[in-house]
Amino acid sequence: MDKPAGDFHPPPDRISELISCLMTAISSCGLYSAKHPVVREFSARAFGIIEEFCSHGDVHVTLIGESVIFNDVPFIERKVHIVNFIRRLRRKKIDKIIFSKTPDLSEMDAFVIGMASGGKVPSTGHISVGVVEVRLKNPGDTADALLDGGLSRVRETFQGVSRFRELDMVGLEDAVIDFLGVLKKEMNILRIVGPVKTHNEYTYVHATNVSVLSIFQAERLGFPQETLRDIGLAGLLHDVGKMFVTNEVLDKKGKLDECEWTEMKKHPVYGALYLARLSEAPPLAAIVAFEHHMKFNGTGYPETKRTGKTQHIVSQIVAISDFFDALRTTRPYRKPLEVPAISRMMREGMGTDFNPVLVEKFLASLEQISAPG
Ligand SMILES: [Fe+2]
Ligand SMILES: [Fe+2]
Repeated sequence: MDKPAGDFHPPPDRISELISCLMTAISSCGLYSAKHPVVREFSARAFGIIEEFCSHGDVHVTLIGESVIFNDVPFIERKVHIVNFIRRLRRKKIDKIIFSKTPDLSEMDAFVIGMASGGKVPSTGHISVGVVEVRLKNPGDTADALLDGGLSRVRETFQGVSRFRELDMVGLEDAVIDFLGVLKKEMNILRIVGPVKTHNEYTYVHATNVSVLSIFQAERLGFPQETLRDIGLAGLLHDVGKMFVTNEVLDKKGKLDECEWTEMKKHPVYGALYLARLSEAPPLAAIVAFEHHMKFNGTGYPETKRTGKTQHIVSQIVAISDFFDALRTTRPYRKPLEVPAISRMMREGMGTDFNPVLVEKFLASLEQISAPG
């Protein structure tokens, strides 16, 4: 048995270096692949430091609130890579990692790949990863209760965000988990995505509806389960760039003049830039924020110089959800439309505004769930 954790206290500068190497390996692995030279180099450097620590005994890394503790000693440095490491652990719902004598490089690689992926981080022989129980839902929870929970999480998160304060991705991921649960319990999507009624609730109810409708479409199209979480997040965040547009433009009752419209049309770029800088946001969210007002035939906005560039399939899905929800909602300048009228408009936009295959599938799925019996 190795010495119990606590006997050995790794020096703070080596802990900082370890976390820096780990975060470089993890973020490069998310951007490129596990075989990329940067990933290989920094994974090996992190491994070297862990090997050195483990020669003294087990190393226990514990996350408590916003603090990371190494063998019972809180590590107080707050450089960007430390903050990102803590966020990543929270996002992965990891509360403890034990490195025991002596892991090999392949175990470190598996850890880095797991941390970079959208899935679980595996425990291996010498790297044990403790995951906090994801809030187990009461099996009796109704779809309404789950939806209420998800909606309040989105509301709280959006209320706390500003140009200067980062989004709480953990709160939004929890909300998406709620929405996935709702869709398993309530077959009628139209019961879930109620039209936005008041101006105050517009931002978060519209974001929620677009998220739920996008998960619904992706599920019906047969997207793998592990992709649904990122698709749900991308739906939630598609309009996040609007927080950089002035309230005068956003809340204007009448039609926007040319100048105001130009400003409004910048929200996809603002959103993509904001999300690209947010280390915890999935890259898909930035792509979708940038592309959700582009059209299937290459028109729309923002205009890009690259001809022949098509929208990402998830941006095409979110564009359909966005259109559908926007037209069901009362806006200062327009009355809400009923589903048959929206369906007609979507059909008219097939091949120009929207991917025809996706529209057909979406409308067929809506008809299926509203068919009697
Ligand atoms: Fe938008
Ligand atoms: Fe939108």
